[in-house]
Amino acid sequence: MSTRNKNIPCLITIFGATGDLSHRKLFPSLFHLYQQQNLSEHFAIIGIGRRDLKNDDFRIQVKSSIQAHVQDTTHLDEFMDHVFYHKHDVNDEASYQSLLAVSQQLDQKFELQGNRLFYLAMAPKFFGIISDYLKSSGLTDVEGFKRLVIEKPFGNDLASAEELNNQIRRSFEEKEIYRIDHYLGKDMVQNIEVLRFANAMFEPLWNNKFISNIQVTSSEKLGVEDRGGYYETSGALKDMVQNHMLQMVALLAMEPPISLKSEDIRSEKVKVLKSLRKLEPSEVNQNFVRGQYDQGKIDDQDVIAYREEDRVDEQSNTPTFVSGKLTIDNFRWAGVPFYIRTGKRMKDKSIQVVVEFKEVPLNLYYETDNKLESNLLVINIQPNEGVSLHLNAKKNVQSIDTKPVQLSYAMSAQDKMNTVDAYENLLFDILNGDPTNFTHWEELKSTWKFVDTIQNEWDKTEPDFPNYEAGTNGPLDSDLLLSRDGFHWWDDIQ
Ligand code: BG6
Repeated sequence: MSTRNKNIPCLITIFGATGDLSHRKLFPSLFHLYQQQNLSEHFAIIGIGRRDLKNDDFRIQVKSSIQAHVQDTTHLDEFMDHVFYHKHDVNDEASYQSLLAVSQQLDQKFELQGNRLFYLAMAPKFFGIISDYLKSSGLTDVEGFKRLVIEKPFGNDLASAEELNNQIRRSFEEKEIYRIDHYLGKDMVQNIEVLRFANAMFEPLWNNKFISNIQVTSSEKLGVEDRGGYYETSGALKDMVQNHMLQMVALLAMEPPISLKSEDIRSEKVKVLKSLRKLEPSEVNQNFVRGQYDQGKIDDQDVIAYREEDRVDEQSNTPTFVSGKLTIDNFRWAGVPFYIRTGKRMKDKSIQVVVEFKEVPLNLYYETDNKLESNLLVINIQPNEGVSLHLNAKKNVQSIDTKPVQLSYAMSAQDKMNTVDAYENLLFDILNGDPTNFTHWEELKSTWKFVDTIQNEWDKTEPDFPNYEAGTNGPLDSDLLLSRDGFHWWDDIQ
């Protein structure tokens, strides 16, 4: 983690600037950074799109998206003076030449010191061609820094990820590439590391002597919305497990880094990902459960089945749910299962980590059939943000029975106001040249290898879909995955 600098001049060029991500996340986050004085006055944004739009029309669109997402819009007009539109055809060399001319003008006008950030908020099939043209047109011949920011999915399997990586590496070095995993920008995901390494009480217990299992859930109430086309090529395994879920596991399981330098943190994360036990094909279905949602009710409203969604095959076998048991083969974690679970159209929207500790060696409070509850450390990532510790305490004065009690910390509204979104944290990191919260190629290689084994096995057999009702916690097999080991999912716990 480098020193934070709020005054980094930069030209931010966003490909796909009229798209959903730009309007919902990127512009509101950039504005909020500006408003909070975390963005230098020396910046300009070029929004790139295919459409023939005038600067003023584009600004009207951007302004209304910001107004829809940020409550306090003080200084919005000043921010908008830095926003420009460029009509562009990503396959046409001439477009890059005119983009170069505009970039040079803005560089001078706003004194940007030749720093350029290219944000590709577009379908991955364009990443290669855009980065090639950025180089051949001279846009990457800069006096300052050049950085490339790309969204997931980064490939569809290891082979395609490798191909894509080779393509973009022709124009950018690894240290100039920022692969977004927006979970790494979430405050409470970043807090996993702080909780573990800034408190003396957890780290001594953070191993197979004291922890019985760790559960990581990211459940959504939403279905695929209007993303059926993309989701059909991806499914929950590639959309969520390959990136967000495994990244959270890496943060939970890594060894303390020797410093907070990004390379030191990354090398510890890579070690975890490399020590994930490789599943033999015959072990895949014992350790991983796939599901697809059927019709059901969400918040008392009827919702349709996945196979009925727009741009989804009526016979689709795409999983909208995955749960799995991971084993990390190293001294610290041997014997401790990490259970992960993610799905759409589930009962709750919840991103949560539950660390379950082993039982005390002897229950002294057994006389009245009193059962001791497991000690839990719960890290609530979203929608609630905070941490709680579940302990046993005396039930009342007369009895020797115990009752579970909870010590909780909830992030205050004041803390939350500091950022509008994970994207704001990530954009600030990129401007600062801090790659800590981005996915390095070495991490991607390991996660794709792991996920490819599962996908290859699943491709061999037809699943019995749909297998869970919308509005539930997924298929029954997901519960069996834990009950076989004597555990259960800690649902409805805060
Ligand atoms: C995205 C996935 O990466 O994460 C989506 O592509 C998913 O399918 C989303 O809905 C979930 O993000 P969050 O922050 O709402 O948990």
